[in-house]
Amino acid sequence: MTSNPQLSASKATSPSPSPIQAKHQVQLGNSDLFVSRIGLGCWPMAGITSLGISDQESIATVHAALDHGINFFDTAYAYGYDGRSDHVLRNALQSRRGDAIIAHKVGLHWDAQRQRCVDGTPATLIKNAQECLKRLDTDYVDVMYLHTPDPNVPIEDSAGAIAEICKRGWARYAAVSNVDLEQAIRFSAICPLVAIQPYFNMFQQDAVQALLPIAKSQNISMVCYWVLMKGLLSGKLQRDHVFDPADRRLTYPIFQGQAWQRAQDLLDRLRSISSELGCTVAQMVIAWTLTKSGVDVVLLGAKRPEQLIESAHALELQLTPEITAQMDSWIEVE
Ligand SMILES: NC(=O)c1ccc[n+]([C@@H]2O[C@H](COP(=O)([O-])OP(=O)(O)OC[C@H]3O[C@@H](n4cnc5c(N)ncnc54)[C@H](OP(=O)(O)O)[C@@H]3O)[C@@H](O)[C@H]2O)c1
Repeated sequence: MTSNPQLSASKATSPSPSPIQAKHQVQLGNSDLFVSRIGLGCWPMAGITSLGISDQESIATVHAALDHGINFFDTAYAYGYDGRSDHVLRNALQSRRGDAIIAHKVGLHWDAQRQRCVDGTPATLIKNAQECLKRLDTDYVDVMYLHTPDPNVPIEDSAGAIAEICKRGWARYAAVSNVDLEQAIRFSAICPLVAIQPYFNMFQQDAVQALLPIAKSQNISMVCYWVLMKGLLSGKLQRDHVFDPADRRLTYPIFQGQAWQRAQDLLDRLRSISSELGCTVAQMVIAWTLTKSGVDVVLLGAKRPEQLIESAHALELQLTPEITAQMDSWIEVE
C-alpha cells in the first residue's frame, strides 16, 4: 500500500518534473501538485460506453502516458460497475505509483440494476472514498472530487464530507465537478478547492466561461473533460460512419442528424488545415483548447496507447494566433 506523503516524511510531496516535462505542467490551484496539462481520463477503461476495451490495452495506455510525460490520472468510483478503472490503474501503476498524481471522484455509483445513482450524502461519500483506496491499493489519492452535486443533499453537506476525507489523510486536496458558479462558491466556503472539473470543447464552452470568476479569484484550476467530444473531434469518424448499435455515443445529440452534419462541416475545415500543418485533427483541437482562458488541464480518454501518444504530442504543437482565431471564427458560424 502506498502511503500519504503528508503523513510520511520520507516521501517527496509530489513527483518532481523533469525539465522537459515541466514546461507542459501546471500547478493545480494552490496545491503543491504539478500536473501535466493533459490528464488521462479513465472512463473508457470502465468498458461501459466504450466498445472494444481490454484491461491489457488500458494498462499499456497508462504506461504510455507515464512514458510521454502524462502524470495525471482521472478515475472515479463509478468508472466501472465494480471499480474497473481503479483496478486497472492499480495494476498499471504498481511500482510507479510515485510517478502518478491520482484524482478520484465520489458521489456517483451504479445500483444492482446498473442504473446510475447520484448520492452525495456524507456517509456514502466517506464509504465510497474508503472503498476506492482499497481498490487502488493506496492509502491516499492526490485529489478527491465530489463527482456531481446531489439535488437531494445540500452541497455544503457534501463539501463537508470531502473536507473530512482530506482531514483523514485519504486525499491530499479537494475538488468538485459538474457545478455551476453558485454551487462552486457554496462548496468552497466549506471546503477549499484546488480544482473544478467542467466539460469543455469546441461546441460547449459555456461551463468554463461561467466558472471563470471563481477560478480566477480563488486560484482554482479547471480540469476539463470531453475535449475531443468522445472522439468526434479527433476527426477520425467520417461523415458516413456507420455506428455500431451498441455504441452509446449515438445517444448524444451531436452524433445525430443536423448536429452531426454541422460537426462534420467543421471537421472538414479542421481536416484540411491540419493536413497543411502536418498534424492530426485531434492534436489541433487539443492545442487550440489549451490556449483557452480558464482551461488549465484537458482530460482525454484513450482506449489504446497510440491514441494517447498521438494526443500527448499536441503539447508540442504551437498554433499561431491567426490559426486559433480562424478556428474560433469557424465555431461562431456553426
Ligand atoms: N466529471 C465528469 O462528470 C466527467 C464526465 C465525462 C468525462 N470525464 C472525464 O474526462 C475524460 C474524457 O472524457 P471521455 O473519455 O468520455 O471522452 P473523450 O476524451 O472526449 O473521448 C475519448 C474517446 O475518443 C477517442 N479518442 C481518444 N483519443 C483519440 C485519438 N488521438 N484519435 C482518435 N480517437 C481518439 C476514443 O474513442 P474511439 O476510439 O472509440 O473513437 C476514446 O475512447 C473521461 O475519461 C473522464 O476521466 C468526467
